[in-house]
Parts: sequence; C-alpha cells; structure tokens
Amino acid sequence: MLKAYQKVSSVGDARKSKKESITVKGWIYRKRSSGGKIFAVIHDHTGILQCIIDKSTITKEEWESIEKAYLESSIIIRGNLRKDDRAPNGIELDVKELSIVHSGEQFPITEYQSPELLLDIRHLWIRSQRMRMIMKARSHVFSYLREFLDKKGFCEITPPLLTISGGETGANLFEVDYFDKKVYLTESSQLYAEAMVYALDKVYSLAPTYRAEKSRTLKHLAEFWMLEPEMAYYNNEMSMKLQSQLVSHVAQRLAKKDEDVLKELNVDVDSLLKIKPPFKKFTYEKAIEKLQELGSDKKWGDDFGVEEERLLTEHEEKPIFVYNWPKEIKAFYMPVNKSDSRTVACADMLAPRGHGEIIGGSERIWKEDELVARMKELNFKIDNYKWYIDLRKYGSVPHSGFGMGTERLIKWLLNLDHIRDAIPFPRMINRVSP
Ligand code: 4AD
Ligand code: MG
Repeated sequence: MLKAYQKVSSVGDARKSKKESITVKGWIYRKRSSGGKIFAVIHDHTGILQCIIDKSTITKEEWESIEKAYLESSIIIRGNLRKDDRAPNGIELDVKELSIVHSGEQFPITEYQSPELLLDIRHLWIRSQRMRMIMKARSHVFSYLREFLDKKGFCEITPPLLTISGGETGANLFEVDYFDKKVYLTESSQLYAEAMVYALDKVYSLAPTYRAEKSRTLKHLAEFWMLEPEMAYYNNEMSMKLQSQLVSHVAQRLAKKDEDVLKELNVDVDSLLKIKPPFKKFTYEKAIEKLQELGSDKKWGDDFGVEEERLLTEHEEKPIFVYNWPKEIKAFYMPVNKSDSRTVACADMLAPRGHGEIIGGSERIWKEDELVARMKELNFKIDNYKWYIDLRKYGSVPHSGFGMGTERLIKWLLNLDHIRDAIPFPRMINRVSP
C-alpha cells in the first residue's frame, strides 16, 4: 500500500528521472478508459504526466478505486517510466501500484465557466493550470524584486498596517475600529519607510496596501501588495535609474528562469528580454504636447486616465517615465522644482501597451519649515503628522523613494487582461470572498 507521507517525486522530477521505477504524487487531471486500460494524466505544480493503468497488472481494489475516482482526486502512483513520442512530454508511466488518497465529490469546474463563477469558487480555481502558473510567476517576481534590492544593500522593513492618518491623499481610506478609536488601513507605507531611511539608509517594504477606490477598472484592487523602496541621498534622477534597473532585472530573470511558466501563459520571452535600461523619459509638459498631437483634449494641469496612458504607451516596447508633474495633482510631500515652481520632483513609470502606471515616486520635502508650510496650505491635521515632521528636526537628509504596485507589474509582464488574476484572492469593490 502506498502511503501518503512517504517520500515521493513531483511530476516534474519523475519526468526527468533516470530511474526506471518511480513513485509520484499528484491529482487526476484527465482520465479515459479503453479496452481494459485507463489513461490517467496526473498533474501538480511542476506539470503533467500520462499514466497507463492496465487492469491485469493491478489489484481489483486498485482498479475499482481508479475507475470511481473523480477528476482532481489526489493520488499516489508507482510505476515504470517509458519513452513514448505520442505522450505529452514524450514520456509515460506504466502503473504497477496506485493509491487514491482522496476522491471526495465531483469537482465543480468543468470545461467552460463564467468569470463570475470562477471568482466565486476562486479557492478551487486557483488549482487550474493557468492560475497555478500565474501564482508561481508571482512568487518568483517577489523573490526577484527582493534579490535585486538586497544586492544593492537595501534592508527590508516591516511597516505597520494600522495607521492614524493617510500617507497619500487620505481620500480612499478604510476605517477600522481600534479599541475606542477609529484608525485606518494603510494606503502607503512610505511615511514609515522615510522614518527608517534615517536609521538604515536604504530600505524597502513589500506589504499589503489598502485603497477604498470606487474604481471598477482592469487595474484597481482594494487590497494590493506595494513595494516601497526609500533611499537617502537620492534625487529623482537617481531614483528613476534605479527603478528602470529593478524592472529590467525582474523581466530578465523571468525570461531566463521561468521559460516553462511563460510558455504555458503564452508570454513572449523576446519581448521580456528587450526590457533593458534606459527607459524613455518625458516631462509632464512634453507628455501633454504629445497627447495633444495624438488628438487628446488634455491640457496642462490635467491628470491622466486609462486613455492617456494608452495613447502614450501603446507602441512602446519598454516602460516610459513621465516626470515633473503639476504640484496640484501630486502628493503633499513632493518638493517644488527650482526650474519650474508649478511642478514637483516626481515621476510615474507607465508600462507598455496601455498597462498603465506601475510605479509612482518622488523626492521628499526634507526640511521642516517647507513641509509644514505645504501641509498647512493643504489644510492637513498637523497633529496627526507630528512624528513625520519630527523626522525633519534632527539631522534630516535629502531622500527619494517610490511605490510599485506588484500586481500591476505582474499584469503587464504576463500580459493579463485583468489585475484580479495577478493575486490569488482579489479584493475589489464588489468582492471580498473567498
Ligand atoms: O502612485 P501611488 O499612489 O504612490 C504612493 O502611494 C506613494 N506613497 C509610493 C511611494 O512613493 N512610496 O501608488 C504607487 C503604485 C502605483 O503606481 C500603482 O502601481 C499601485 O501603487 N497602485 C495600485 N495597484 C493596484 N490597485 C490599486 N488600487 C492601486 N493604487 C495604486
Ligand atoms: Mg500614482
């Protein structure tokens, strides 16, 4: 009897194995029977393997259990590997012994299901080959981001998620009961990253972020994971260079290390290999001129929406920067440019083919009087920001940072239609379950 806890191979290991006899575990992906044989394809996160089960070589109990087993039943199989050009991956397993770990009920996902239903049964849909591959890529993207920043000497920090004030506009905060107080789920960890820059020089957080935006778009989540690096003695120019290196690193690593995943998802490896610095840069002013040439009626001072982002990037192969935006449409902590006092020292990175803004970053006002003046101008509750202002009282230094929406990055790199597929359990305006 094959045991559930014995050491067995993954499907991928089995396929590569030099041994003849092997034991694998997985789930039944497809099954058909013909002339006293059952052809069962089993799968796990490493791929699929065709198994041939001959009634005459296994016991009666084993035969009955595999005959009855539903798709997605968990199974352990021992058998002999044999090359066969007709099989998927060119290899098959002649089964000698099998054990159904759990068959349970009929799996509710069949050939076609509506996207809504698939979201309702997301806890099961994440087992699909497509979601499996995306989640694998997501895990790797997270490690490539960390790999790059760790090598550059950054420290990873863990910011609080409960806060007493917003880190951005404060307009889209989720309120939470906190004992006898009202607090908010964080909309950005930036202010805490700034505090830690004075302690550790270069830091980043990779943390859940919450926005109660009432946007039903292909690129908005109410809960997403933001990467927020913050660097002492960096200006906007240096920050943009770092951002392009970071994005390029992730694209190159994916292209070179995740070929199997990219193939399953029909992602063009060559287009990822082209993502190398430098990226084009346009001042906000130039971007507006370009938009007008392309027929847009946007004028100086307007923010960009999905349409403007598409117009600017649809023919681009690499992301572009739009920098030095009007101060009225950017956050309170961004310093005014000396060259043009209407604008602030900031940049957004827009992904190609209309995937939209993946990074927003800027220099930070690092002098107390300037910061307080700006906050007063915007009618901020100064009391809630005491500690943040305090940072500027003792040995303050110029610094910059940026925030990258990891699901937006993944959506673009894997060319997904909707951001909800870049995260296992999406939270959106109309969905918080499962
Ligand atoms: O441009 P944002 O709002 O910038 C900040 O929050 C800064 N405090 C970051 C910083 O400088 N440390 O957000 C940064 C990025 C956006 O470019 C976008 O990629 C992502 O976060 N983002 C979202 N992703 C998914 N769903 C949403 N609702 C998002 N809102 C922002
Ligand atoms: Mg932004």
